[in-house]
Amino acid sequence: MKKQPKKITTKVLFDMKQSGEKISMLTAYDYTMARILDAAEIDVLLVGDSASNVMAGHETTLPITLDQMIYHAQSVVRAVKRALVVVDMPFGSYQGNSKRALDSAIRIMKESGGHAVKMEGGIEIKESVERILSAGIPVMGHLGLIPQSIYKFGTYTVRAKEEAEAEKLLSDAILLEKLGVFAIVLEKIPAALAKTVAETVKIPVIGIGAGPHVDGQVLVTQDMLGMTKDFSPRFLRRYLDLYEEMKNAFIRYREDVKSGDFPNEQESY
Ligand code: KIV
Repeated sequence: MKKQPKKITTKVLFDMKQSGEKISMLTAYDYTMARILDAAEIDVLLVGDSASNVMAGHETTLPITLDQMIYHAQSVVRAVKRALVVVDMPFGSYQGNSKRALDSAIRIMKESGGHAVKMEGGIEIKESVERILSAGIPVMGHLGLIPQSIYKFGTYTVRAKEEAEAEKLLSDAILLEKLGVFAIVLEKIPAALAKTVAETVKIPVIGIGAGPHVDGQVLVTQDMLGMTKDFSPRFLRRYLDLYEEMKNAFIRYREDVKSGDFPNEQESY
């Protein structure tokens, strides 16, 4: 019988931090990509609300709905045997109303089969985090650049460069750990601050544009594959130039169809 892979759980991630093993995390929004990511043994698949930009072409993450996030998460969960699947709670599904937050998180868990939810913010969302955790739903935090608050910040530049914001970020991380979140994503903050956070809390800290001194890294899959052209932040390492490769394949297909070269005899019944 084929050996089943060891499933990644929040406890496994905690143990990875203790043993110094780095955590790999990438976004996934659909079944086909999630299968490949899981076969590559990526530890955590994030059904990110970046689907709003990457899959739907919106300028921000704000428009994506809870129903749409659940649809993406269902597709990812169907593909996964090993990874922990974390689902972003979309804008408007938890802020300022802990009852709505709990209802939203329960819908995500029940209807998608995801393993945990991710929420942006610190002290501002304390009640919502507490209420969701009290229902036994694992929560991943997200501090630093929090794209759901883009209209508050006004820009996607590096966060927490000033002392006051850095101090708030550290105290938010400590608070989230105390509340019981199982991990925290730090987005686009100075590497030195990320290092301090990762050394202060016992739970795993996963960075995106937060330098190397954290417990794991996350990127948007389409960005690291080079499928997106117009997004080139310093932290992004592109492992392929899939935009060009895919475009060339589409051109070759178009040419083969136009010339009558496709399909040939072997490709016909
Ligand atoms: O939605 C997303 O893709 C994210 C990552 C950038 C961490 O939250």
